[in-house]
Formats: sequence, C-alpha cells, structure tokens
Amino acid sequence: MSEIDPTGQTRQWSDQLSGAWERHRQFLFESERRLSEWLVDQVDPQVGDTILELAAGPGETGFLAAERLGDTGRLISTDLGAGMVAAAQRGAEKLGLDNVECRVMDAQQIDLDDDSIDGVLCRFGLMLMPEPARALAGVRRVLRPGRRLAYGVWGPPDKNPWLTLMVGALLQNGHQPPGDPFGPGGPFSLADPARNRALLDDAGFTEVDVEELSGSMAFADFDQYWTVQSEVSGPVALLIGTLASDETEAIRETLEPMLAEFQTPQGYEFPWHTLGVSVR
Ligand SMILES: C[S@@+](CC[C@H](N)C(=O)[O-])C[C@H]1O[C@@H](n2cnc3c(N)ncnc32)[C@H](O)[C@@H]1O
Repeated sequence: MSEIDPTGQTRQWSDQLSGAWERHRQFLFESERRLSEWLVDQVDPQVGDTILELAAGPGETGFLAAERLGDTGRLISTDLGAGMVAAAQRGAEKLGLDNVECRVMDAQQIDLDDDSIDGVLCRFGLMLMPEPARALAGVRRVLRPGRRLAYGVWGPPDKNPWLTLMVGALLQNGHQPPGDPFGPGGPFSLADPARNRALLDDAGFTEVDVEELSGSMAFADFDQYWTVQSEVSGPVALLIGTLASDETEAIRETLEPMLAEFQTPQGYEFPWHTLGVSVR
C-alpha cells in the first residue's frame, strides 16, 4: 500500500465541504446546467431504466435523469463522501423523487452487478480520481451492452479563469494548494481530449464522442464569488479554511483587481469550458 492515499484525501475534503456544497447546491448546478442536460440527453434515460450517477455530490444532475425514469425506474446516486450522499438524499426528498437510492461508493470500486445498469452519468468527478482507468473499467463491467456513459470534466486552465485566478492570488501570497493540477486526480488531469480517448480506448469503449461545451457563471459581486469559490473548491477551499483572517484579506485584495476584465454592470461573469464525453 502506498504511503499517500489520494482517495482518502479526497474523501476528507468532500466530507468537510459537503455542507457548503449543500448550501450552494442550486448555484453549483445551475451554473453548468447546460453540461448536465447534455450528459442526461446522451444517456437518454427511459422509463424503467436503472441509471447510475458517480461522484454525484448533492445529486442534481442525476435528479434530471430520475425525472425521466418513472415509478419503475431507479437512479442510484453515489459519491465517495457520506456528507455529499446525505445532501443528495435530502435533495431527492425535497423534490419528491422516490425512485432515487443514495449510496456511498468509490467510483474506482463500483459495487454493483455486471450488466445491471442502463446508463452512467458523472459530472466533474472522473478527473478527481487518482485511478480513472479503474473507474472506467468498472463502468464498462456494470453497463448493459449498447448503453452509454456520459461524463463531463474541466477543459484547460486558460479557459477556466474562475478557478485559476483564485489559485494565482493564493500563490502570489505564498500559499500553494496541494497536488499537481494536471497530475492524476488534479482538476485539469483530463482537460485534453486525447487523454480521454486513450483512457476510453484502453477500457474497451468503441464509440467515443468528445465535445467542447462552454458557458458562463455569474456572480452578483466579489463577495459572492469569494464566498462560493472559497467554500467549495476542494483542496483550495480547505487551504483557505486554515488561514488567518489577515492572510485571507491579503488574498482577497490581490484577487479583486485580477477579476476586473470579468466585471459586468450586474457583477461578474466568468467563462467556463468543459469536455463532454459520451461513450458506448
Ligand atoms: C467537483 S464535485 C462535483 C459534484 C457534482 N457531480 C456536480 O457536478 O456538482 C466532485 C465530487 O466528486 C466526488 N468524488 C471524488 N472522488 C471520488 C471517487 N473516487 N468516487 C466517488 N466520488 C468521488 C467528491 O466527493 C465530490 O462530491
């Protein structure tokens, strides 16, 4: 066993940040809703199907699928973190969805029968896994022949300034978030379409479609941007949570002018860029 347990570290931030993800759930879902809708359309859930969502967080993407499954179908909403799974459970109850089962599950160890699933969804999860190949092999094992996996991952950093500018302000103030953003489990580890194609090819998927999907996320003001991003952004948020208030203030002062080009009369609007991947 290796000394470092990257999945354990992810579980730790996931559990610590799940309260913030639940508080901001609607914002986080709506900001990239376009990607969620694309993913669900690719999987094309039918009444009676069993759909699996991996790394579901508070669950909203899967809930779009659950609405199409009827009483005879089932969404299995899963995440590594128990706090995220509890948030998903509450979300499903609030929406009155009684065809949703929420379970703690490491996507790299899918605990389901072979050929038991009609479609798999994963929004902003696969790139955070240190062993995405294991996750993909598991997906292929549980998917019924001919059915689809659709996932979304962040595109390159220069097209996602909403994250990179905050990291830049941290670095300028001498605080380095842990991990390599391009290495296994890093937020940009699957930003290259060729890397996704190679992984999918190795996992035995034959029909692979990679699309670039982009949009924008809007914030009413700098405080809203800071609050959301400093509370939900994985290891970055954990790092900020450890800082003293004068250190946080210094980062905010560095960051605010860096965001000027994204200021609008309504607040701030940042572009986002993702890869939507749909495979059979
Ligand atoms: C960036 S959040 C995305 C949440 C949600 N899918 C969304 O789009 O809003 C990443 C989620 O992946 C989960 N995650 C990371 N590694 C995982 C793994 N190995 N297995 C299952 N979930 C994982 C985290 O717990 C977290 O909830």
